[in-house]
Amino acid sequence: MSKVHLIDHPLVQHKLTMIRDRNTGPKDFRELVNEVALLMAYEVTRDMPLEEVEVETPICKTKGHVISGKKIGLIPILRAGLGMVDGILKLIPTAKVGHVGLYRDPDTLKPVEYYCKLPSDSYERDFIVIDPMLATGGSAVAAINFVKNIGCSGVKLMCLIAAPEGIAMVQKHHPDVSIYTAAIDEKLNELGYIVPGLGDAGDRLYGTK
Ligand code: PRP
Ligand code: URA
Repeated sequence: MSKVHLIDHPLVQHKLTMIRDRNTGPKDFRELVNEVALLMAYEVTRDMPLEEVEVETPICKTKGHVISGKKIGLIPILRAGLGMVDGILKLIPTAKVGHVGLYRDPDTLKPVEYYCKLPSDSYERDFIVIDPMLATGGSAVAAINFVKNIGCSGVKLMCLIAAPEGIAMVQKHHPDVSIYTAAIDEKLNELGYIVPGLGDAGDRLYGTK
């Protein structure tokens, strides 16, 4: 069963409340989403493997640790996932970025695919799939399918707000994928929006409504 990590650091929770606020405009919304993404990335990467190396300080030789293991790839789900990429890249600047384009059909709420471009060395990487909203879970499951279909097994999912329905959907289809979220909200409404949520993440990021 996918493990769910609730990131309850005070800085994350404070910024998330500002993100939820309907009076927060696109400029502040974008900045806050990137700041929360950076802070969350610290937790998402906590289990990265380390290897011991020798380092020479100005005083003497000693042992230190550097990150080892597979390189990281980020997969933002277009559009709203893009809003988290720059924040994460501040922490993991060498990560390659693939893109998966999906939108939810407003009637069926099923994800519709329109773009997929992944790094050519994807099979050598562990991936973090990124989307601020995990609502029904359809988009996240489809994006993880893309990544797994090219042979990658190390996948994590990072979102800002998850609905219980979305968590259950990911756990059903991808029980090996850990979910990192800053909040687990109450439910979905009849239009498939997370309650209380933050509204439409893409529209709030880019001012399209
Ligand atoms: C939103 C959000 C997720 C998806 C979540 O994208 O960014 O990708 O909905 O819903 P789900 O869990 O029910 O699939 P949207 O389809 O609104 O596209 P956009 O990011 O281009 O606005
Ligand atoms: N997509 C969003 O942007 N917000 C929601 O609440 C649900 C899906």
